[in-house]
Amino acid sequence: MQAYDPAPLYAGHLHTLAKRADIALERGGFDHLVVPSGTLRHQVFDDREYAYAVNPQFKAWVPLTRTPGSWITYTPGQRPKLIYLQPRDYWHVVPQAPGGWWADHFDVIVIRSPEDALPHLPPSSRSAILGEAQSALGDYAPNNPAAVLAFLDFHRAFKTPYEIAMMRAASAIGAQAHRAAEAAFRQGLSEFDIHMAYCAAARQDANELPYGNIIALNEHGAVLHYMELDRDAPPVARSFLIDAGASHGGYACDITRTFSRDRGDEFQSLVDAVDTAQQVLCAKVRQGVDYRQLHLEAHTLLARILCDFGVVKVSPEAAVATGVSATFFPHGLGHGIGLQVHDVAGFAASDTGGTIPRPDGHPFLRLTRTLVPGMVVTIEPGLYFIDMLLEELRAGPQAGSVDWARVDAFRPYGGIRIEDDVACTDDMPLNLTREAFSAA
Ligand code: GLY
Ligand code: MN
Ligand code: MN
Repeated sequence: MQAYDPAPLYAGHLHTLAKRADIALERGGFDHLVVPSGTLRHQVFDDREYAYAVNPQFKAWVPLTRTPGSWITYTPGQRPKLIYLQPRDYWHVVPQAPGGWWADHFDVIVIRSPEDALPHLPPSSRSAILGEAQSALGDYAPNNPAAVLAFLDFHRAFKTPYEIAMMRAASAIGAQAHRAAEAAFRQGLSEFDIHMAYCAAARQDANELPYGNIIALNEHGAVLHYMELDRDAPPVARSFLIDAGASHGGYACDITRTFSRDRGDEFQSLVDAVDTAQQVLCAKVRQGVDYRQLHLEAHTLLARILCDFGVVKVSPEAAVATGVSATFFPHGLGHGIGLQVHDVAGFAASDTGGTIPRPDGHPFLRLTRTLVPGMVVTIEPGLYFIDMLLEELRAGPQAGSVDWARVDAFRPYGGIRIEDDVACTDDMPLNLTREAFSAA
């Protein structure tokens, strides 16, 4: 962790945020940026609250994820201000007073109740207030100006060195927890117990993880977002697909691995082939590469694997052109990642707006931008044996492109996904995930 110490990088990060805010405010015609951290919300007809999720625009400024009712304000040329809610409350543990390497960079005002923020906030008519409607204090309400958000969201794709350090730290936690989960799988534990082993190793519970863990044994690997967590172990756990991340100071990692129980069987060979293709794709995370093109290359690489393993009987090019590859790889190659596991502005054409469309026939791709140093993207190709999609293929004109006996041989293993988080740099890509596994 020491190698990724974010503290010395934080001033530079704030400087970048301030410069971005200066331009965003100018574009929107505002004098101040105001960002509420968000609030707690009651469940309907109940006195329990939903799990709190911090406003990503807030945690971009401070590594705080559990401080509802707080605010950041920034006026160009001035130090940013943190209005920090530390309620008088004997029912709950209240947030500690802000301190440490990040707090020195703010003028900090501690308040005791949410309304106490009001006198410290700049005039709403001159402020871009970024947040959810429920953060309003009376008439003081988020206005989310489109021009300001378009600029900030577009540039959020370009991570500062501080953010890369935070993501390295998140990746280190994730890699360690993945190792524990693999060991739990090899012991024959249930999905639920593997999940618990993962959380224990990460020292994070479901509310802290950046997304719900996907822990899938056998055929469950064919359900792309399988979140059921069976309590009972299957009689035989043939295969294991785990898509699980970790958080650090508001930043996420997003990691998927797939294993066969029998390290020498054909399914493991298929996993290894996808892993090799995945690394070829990771190596292409370079400046100027169109992510849409990378996604299309993934289809060709995966179709070639299907041919090599005798699942598909036509050429890889034909399998891609006819849509056969999409039966086995029905999601996008990946997405931007950072403060949010699926980072904003994946389709943004510019910092003033506009959309880069997905390629025809690829409705689930989440990122269409061209790669630039600082961007961090996931590379997550997969091959799945999904009954619903296979039935459609078998009933259609391309049924003869497939050796159905080979499909049946792989169905009991569900599917494969290998996912790393990769930073585009001026030079070689930096694979945050592989780096973390090498150290774990
Ligand atoms: N874990 C969600 C995803 O891979 O996008
Ligand atoms: Mn992902
Ligand atoms: Mn994932």
